[in-house]
Amino acid sequence: MMRPATAPKIPDGFHYRGRRERLLQAVRETHGGGLVLMPTAPEVFRNRDTLYPYRPESYFTYLSGFPEPEAVLALSCDNAGETRHLLFCREKNPERETWDGFRFGPEAARETFAFDEAFPISTLTEQLPALTMNRPALLTPLGLYPDWDRTITQLLGTVRSQARAGNTPPACLLDVRDALDPMRMVKDEAEIALMRHAAAITAQAHVRAMRFARPGHFEYQVEAELQHEFLRHGAQSAYPAIVAAAENACVLHYVGNRCPINAGDLLLIDAGGEYQSYAADITRTFPVGRRFSAAQKDVYELVLAAQRACFDALKPGAPFHAFHDAAERVLAQGMIDLKLIEGSLDAALETGSFKRFYMHRAGHWLGLDVHDAGHYQRGDHGEAPTLLEAGMALTVEPGCYIGAAEDIPAAFHNIGVRIEDDVLITNDGIDILTAAAPKSVAEVEALCTES
Ligand code: GLY
Ligand code: MN
Ligand code: MN
Repeated sequence: MMRPATAPKIPDGFHYRGRRERLLQAVRETHGGGLVLMPTAPEVFRNRDTLYPYRPESYFTYLSGFPEPEAVLALSCDNAGETRHLLFCREKNPERETWDGFRFGPEAARETFAFDEAFPISTLTEQLPALTMNRPALLTPLGLYPDWDRTITQLLGTVRSQARAGNTPPACLLDVRDALDPMRMVKDEAEIALMRHAAAITAQAHVRAMRFARPGHFEYQVEAELQHEFLRHGAQSAYPAIVAAAENACVLHYVGNRCPINAGDLLLIDAGGEYQSYAADITRTFPVGRRFSAAQKDVYELVLAAQRACFDALKPGAPFHAFHDAAERVLAQGMIDLKLIEGSLDAALETGSFKRFYMHRAGHWLGLDVHDAGHYQRGDHGEAPTLLEAGMALTVEPGCYIGAAEDIPAAFHNIGVRIEDDVLITNDGIDILTAAAPKSVAEVEALCTES
């Protein structure tokens, strides 16, 4: 059994304060000052009096690290660059803490998370108008939570109604996520350390799954092994795991995980751990209890080659879509060579005939969210692709999915292969964060046939 990797240092309150300061200085440069209001996620009932496991909102987490529900950040900056960092949160409550556990309360929260002041959340509504008046801009998430939208609408109404008393409402209302996305797209050292750890845990979970999965198991039993590995490292699933045998592997978002697994089935596992709010996202595909069949191996090696072409296309300054284009070229040529599609490479790319077997993008930003914040196009009209920079993190996940069909040789039926790794753009290329998850034919066959 592999030992748990050494856990990285958790960022302290001043680290989060540094991010808040960067945001506020950007607000000053763009608007001459303003107020940022950022709520965390509400709790959500699963049924009757049972809640879904709580997860704080990702932008809120990025700015504060504060883990409790019922909390709002109020961050202000004037034209001289003077800033105030306020937190509204739940008060201490011995009775509720007996039932539900520890609450920081404003005083401890202020100190731990490096705020200037902290107040009970019950005082938010009465304090908001004074905080909002005479600020050139209000930045807050819009359309994220209906209750918060109502709070903001009412706040603006209240502030406008006081105009005759000489108070000016914000001239501009903006979605704060647009200001934060460029920051979140380039990971800092603390984030990279957490992402490396999430990747290491996830790689171990995939090895465990390859060793465990054998003919006669059900998909959910393999999922349980993944969960075991995440939980024993203090992580949880970053998204519902896909454990898909045979034809299920051709369903891109298969999450049922209820079917039995037969000898020689390809098993596609797309599963990622989330550690301290940061996600990993790995897919591996392997034959259960046997070596690859000739057709399975052909498709697997094609997807591996596509992934290598993607890696070659990733470097600082490259447009985001270049690696996707590289994947399409390799996959389309491979499909022609395997006689899955007809015609020339140019014709396949022109008509998109290859999309019958490869229909998704080759990757996405990765970070606090598995499909992380950030733009894929830039410019006022989205006219240019985002260019890669050191510190950006993304997945690289080409695939090939061949369902059963009359015009396809039977040997290729129900072969669904995806190979997904997580990559950090560095000053001179890439660092594959998930390289510890085996994927060569020889490594995979050794793990899934060992006794
Ligand atoms: N696991 C979700 C994805 O690969 O995008
Ligand atoms: Mn992915
Ligand atoms: Mn994935």
